[in-house]
Amino acid sequence: MEKKIITLRVNKQDYELYINPKTLLVEAIRDYIGLTGTKRGCETVSCGACSVLVGDLAVKACSVLAMQCDGMEITTSEGLEDNGKLAPIQKAFLDEGAYQCGFCTSGMLMTTSGLLKENANPTKQEVKEAIEGNICRCTGYNSIVRAVERVAKGMYKEESL
Ligand code: FES
Ligand code: FES
Repeated sequence: MEKKIITLRVNKQDYELYINPKTLLVEAIRDYIGLTGTKRGCETVSCGACSVLVGDLAVKACSVLAMQCDGMEITTSEGLEDNGKLAPIQKAFLDEGAYQCGFCTSGMLMTTSGLLKENANPTKQEVKEAIEGNICRCTGYNSIVRAVERVAKGMYKEESL
């Protein structure tokens, strides 16, 4: 299949890529751009480890082709911080110890960031529903939910980006 040139804007930086049209967004981010915070887990849209933001929407990056995101704004876990300052959701994950092996963490951060962009004050149930598609094999779900609740309560307002 003929290769194509696309531009992905990832973490506020433009990347021009010459890719096979079948390249998945997760491959483009990790293998072409070199941002390995986004994890490749199941690659069957089941685990959520590859979640990124496309615009403000959390998307599993193994579920879309890179070409479909041509010209779009993408945020990965590396793009959450601002000049070395952690985003509130990152700080909350640290404060709640919402990670163990850390493999799911990047995806969890992006899914919960997407939720908070859509709904700044989600209920516990809404947080649980939002992360339903993200698997944590260390089963750290409660601390992840508590981390999102911390942000929703405005606990990091003073420190916000
Ligand atoms: S790697 Fe994309 S959902 Fe598992
Ligand atoms: S912290 Fe290990 S998979 Fe979630």
